[in-house]
Amino acid sequence: MFHQPVCHYFCLFLPLQQPFNQEAGMALAKQNVLITGANRGIGLSLCKEFIARNYNVFGSLRQESRDDPSAAELKETGANIIEFDVTDENTIAAAFDSWGDKPLDILINNAGAPTPPRMWDEVTAEALIDKFRVNAVGPFMVSKIFMPALEKSISPKIINIASNSGQIAGK
Ligand SMILES: NC(=O)c1ccc[n+]([C@@H]2O[C@H](COP(=O)([O-])OP(=O)(O)OC[C@H]3O[C@@H](n4cnc5c(N)ncnc54)[C@H](OP(=O)(O)O)[C@@H]3O)[C@@H](O)[C@H]2O)c1
Repeated sequence: MFHQPVCHYFCLFLPLQQPFNQEAGMALAKQNVLITGANRGIGLSLCKEFIARNYNVFGSLRQESRDDPSAAELKETGANIIEFDVTDENTIAAAFDSWGDKPLDILINNAGAPTPPRMWDEVTAEALIDKFRVNAVGPFMVSKIFMPALEKSISPKIINIASNSGQIAGK
């Protein structure tokens, strides 16, 4: 219920359709988009929105969620599924090895560990470090490892989805 408006709001900033070559009078090749954390929440909604706009969508899933009902939901969207954990460089590198020669036009670093509401004095160092690894180091490593594919696109874009709750200091 809460995710759909967020997703629609986000998609207002996306081109409504694939790029069109005016001179040739024909649509250009489908653009490839990779969405991390695609099996639920905002990532799943983004998959549906991009597929509806005729993009070639790749959605990432953690290996440990492979048998979760959310994996079947992701599959139903028609997205290509890639498995990796953003905190595990080896799994990202293995996913990149299977990516092939195609360009990556849009990388959406969406995978994250949303914070359950809790008082600041209940937060532990371990919890902060774990969150930093998923929400900050993860997007960097995915972007770094997939950079050769991004460099093959004529107009590559990296979109990072962050959260105000990631601020150390707040009101
Ligand atoms: N929902 C909000 O109100 C809100 C507001 C502001 C920002 N955001 C940001 O938007 C993003 C998505 O949020 P959401 O509400 O859609 O969260 P969500 O429903 O909990 O989904 C998070 C996704 O990230 C994946 N993920 C978590 N840790 C991962 C890891 N180590 N490696 C790979 N994938 C991992 C999850 O996979 P599993 O299913 O395997 O756990 C899941 O697919 C997050 O970055 C969040 O900080 C959300």
